[in-house]
Amino acid sequence: MREGQNAVIHRADYRPPAFWIDSVELCFDLDPVKTRVLNRMRLRRNPDQPAQALRLDGEELNLARVLVNGQGTSFKLEDSQLILENLPEGNAPFELEVFTTCAPAKNTKLMGLYVSNDSFFTQCEAEGFRRITYFLDRPDVMASYNVTLRADKAAYPVLLSNGNLVEQGDLDGGRHFARWVDPHRKPCYLFALVAGKLVAREQRITTASGADHLLQVYVRPGDLDKTEHAMNSLMASIAWDEGRFKLPLDLERFMIVATSDFNMGAMENKGLNIFNTKYVLASQATATDTDYANIESVVGHEYFHNWTGNRVTCRDWFQLSLKEGLTVFRDQEFSQDLAGEASARAVRRIEDVRVLRTAQFPEDAGPMAHPVRPDQYLEINNFYTVTIYEKGAEVVRMMQTLVAGEGDPLGRAGFARGMALYFERHDGQAVTCDDFAQAIADANPGSPLARLLPQFKRWYSQAGTPRLKARSHWDAATGTYSLALSQSCTPTPGQPHKDPFVIPVRLGLLDAEGRQISDGLHVLTEDSDTLTMSGLAGEPVPSILRGFTAPVILEYDYTDAQLLILLAHDTDPFNRWEAAQRLAIHRALHFIRSGEHVELDAPFVEAMRAVLRHPTLDSAFKDLVLTLPSETYLAEQLDEVDPQRIHAVREAMRMGLATALRHDWEWVYEQNKDTGAYRPDSRSAGRRALAGMALTHLCLAARTSGDPVWPGKTLQRFKDAGNMTDRFNALAALVACGHELAAPALASFHALFKNEALVLDKWFALQAGAPDHGGNILPVVKQLMQHPDFNLRNPNRARSLIFSYCSANPGGFHRRDAAGYVFWCERVMELDAINPQVAARLARALDRWKKLADPYRGAAREAIARVAAKPDLSRDVREVVTRALA
Ligand code: PHE
Ligand code: ZN
Repeated sequence: MREGQNAVIHRADYRPPAFWIDSVELCFDLDPVKTRVLNRMRLRRNPDQPAQALRLDGEELNLARVLVNGQGTSFKLEDSQLILENLPEGNAPFELEVFTTCAPAKNTKLMGLYVSNDSFFTQCEAEGFRRITYFLDRPDVMASYNVTLRADKAAYPVLLSNGNLVEQGDLDGGRHFARWVDPHRKPCYLFALVAGKLVAREQRITTASGADHLLQVYVRPGDLDKTEHAMNSLMASIAWDEGRFKLPLDLERFMIVATSDFNMGAMENKGLNIFNTKYVLASQATATDTDYANIESVVGHEYFHNWTGNRVTCRDWFQLSLKEGLTVFRDQEFSQDLAGEASARAVRRIEDVRVLRTAQFPEDAGPMAHPVRPDQYLEINNFYTVTIYEKGAEVVRMMQTLVAGEGDPLGRAGFARGMALYFERHDGQAVTCDDFAQAIADANPGSPLARLLPQFKRWYSQAGTPRLKARSHWDAATGTYSLALSQSCTPTPGQPHKDPFVIPVRLGLLDAEGRQISDGLHVLTEDSDTLTMSGLAGEPVPSILRGFTAPVILEYDYTDAQLLILLAHDTDPFNRWEAAQRLAIHRALHFIRSGEHVELDAPFVEAMRAVLRHPTLDSAFKDLVLTLPSETYLAEQLDEVDPQRIHAVREAMRMGLATALRHDWEWVYEQNKDTGAYRPDSRSAGRRALAGMALTHLCLAARTSGDPVWPGKTLQRFKDAGNMTDRFNALAALVACGHELAAPALASFHALFKNEALVLDKWFALQAGAPDHGGNILPVVKQLMQHPDFNLRNPNRARSLIFSYCSANPGGFHRRDAAGYVFWCERVMELDAINPQVAARLARALDRWKKLADPYRGAAREAIARVAAKPDLSRDVREVVTRALA
């Protein structure tokens, strides 16, 4: 019953494997049409498990031969498994040889072995290795790999796999070979091979421990000049992990290879990371500051997996957050440490929280809600989610916060001790989230984490975003201030009741002049709890959940006056930003609910002006403060959602800021427009971001005034720009205000970059994600589907056009005539036949349909039902739409 199309896999059903695979010898004869794979394994029975048949996983393979200890044997093929019942008795090792073929050129799912731009690549996580050969495709089976690659030498001059190159040479018929041996045992999801016409940027380094290493970044021949930033990021990652966690590089050679056909961002295969080109290639002419920052963080992320994921891996896929949550936490810390100054760190933190709130909170409130450690799944690919990654990282962050102590106010030293113990205990093993939490706690006896561990672990088992309610009481007569905190969490699918979480709450108090009175960490463990402070001269302003110390929704009835004090004075930059968000949300919700004409009040406008004109605040921080909460985030604050109303209100508020602050935007633009020779550092990136924001507002303001000056200046900047960030921001400003200069600028942008795939992705995404004016976006999207540069099979391109519209443009997508939903439904079905993983991600665009007001709600339901009714739907999409309709 395990493998059938409808079988739900349960965490509670975990059993250790019945067999171990100690070593694997793989020999590939690479050919796009028919690749031959000879797989020789040494296996033995797991003495701790009852004797049983060997069941190897395999998918879309042609089986030619099976030998046990060199002899033919009987076998069965059932439900994508190769079953061997007559194996030698006893615990002695035996050799199993399996010979299969597969068809890489026909592999559009991009899982297993596939062809992209005439090169071979593999993707094995989570269950892609079974598309290469029959195997025990589960992460707790760790083997040594010895891999021989054979291919035509002219077509595939470079042959790569994990570990060390031990032998290479020529063969008859213009073919050649390379043999790779990985010195580390690994689960098969970390296997990789690459073959093709590639070139490498190389760097030799000597690490702090004195060891020499060769670093390589492989790309297609024309792309070598775009690899410097990735290489710098890799070197920075290596130095950071050695410095902060004492974790060295454990390989002589570390390779990164870029491919333009990739389902995800990148993959941490041991010693041979395979990346989406989007997270490798950058030049100032083609990549924005955001691209540079993303490359730094993804290169870091994959590198950090070498310890958190590879040296210590997951026992089963329910433990996915063991490696992903922890590694996201590590890459976030890395990016913050590289950003340097406290204010730049805070900007990173705010950006991370914004992702959590706009993507993970809705997931936690919708049909796909699942705990950080899920209990069941139909298709594991559907669980590479913001909950596993971003909420998982917040859970790790809370652990760090909860091991803080004297001389270690942030818990960094305590957490590093915990990591050291984790590796001491588990290096080379496949373990669970419990093992990780236990190690961090055990290394910090007496800490709140150690005391509260069983309760703390509810963060792993309970889905849903907790609500933290705060109510204050001020007794002027005694100078006593009290803050009552309480928590609750609404039911999620399969979890009607929630027990209280451990919620670390960093709390500051400010006096009426904005001076800090106190700051400390409070840990809420019960349903409710009251903090009391006495001897105060006046009623304080509370700064609750500083630094966003827990992934919760904070409800406190802040008055505008309190928020203005926090915005002007809070020493915690996160809450300073948060105060501005709350001011904006109060107003947006008021206009959305009342239907009143949008008019911004003077105190709000003045507060925004003060931020814009502030003499010392960072440009990046100003940019974040002036960015209104997203339509998606606003929708989450409402019980019933009219996406058009939200869109109209948010656009009107943006227009309000554009016109009321016109002179301030001009001033800000002048102050920030020149950043000198291009460098992607956070300070100059912040200045470029703010200059771009100013241009957008100035163009918006010109829309009402009809003044041609700013659109003209913007076009000029678009033409003259010395880097992609300035060029793209200027283009985006013209597109955002719907100016007639946008069309020629878009055409010239396309002409300039017609040979740069990643820039064309931006070109598609910008048009599909543009603000909707009277339903104009869908026709553009449909037209772009016919563009010669559009290709549904390339995930980056599909995402840039279809996802930018369906998932990132609520104002354009949710149409009263339901045409957006019909488009969505057709694309999900079309993509499902090509690449179910990508289709299932698109399918999630309507997750929150139950919140929609009519006519959207009924139309959305109908579109989902139409997808669900399609015969031969993949398991991936079926799981998403079935849960949506439940
Ligand atoms: N493990 C990869 C990462 O987080 C993500 C990934 C999952 C890539 C599945 C491909 C397939 O770094
Ligand atoms: Zn990862």
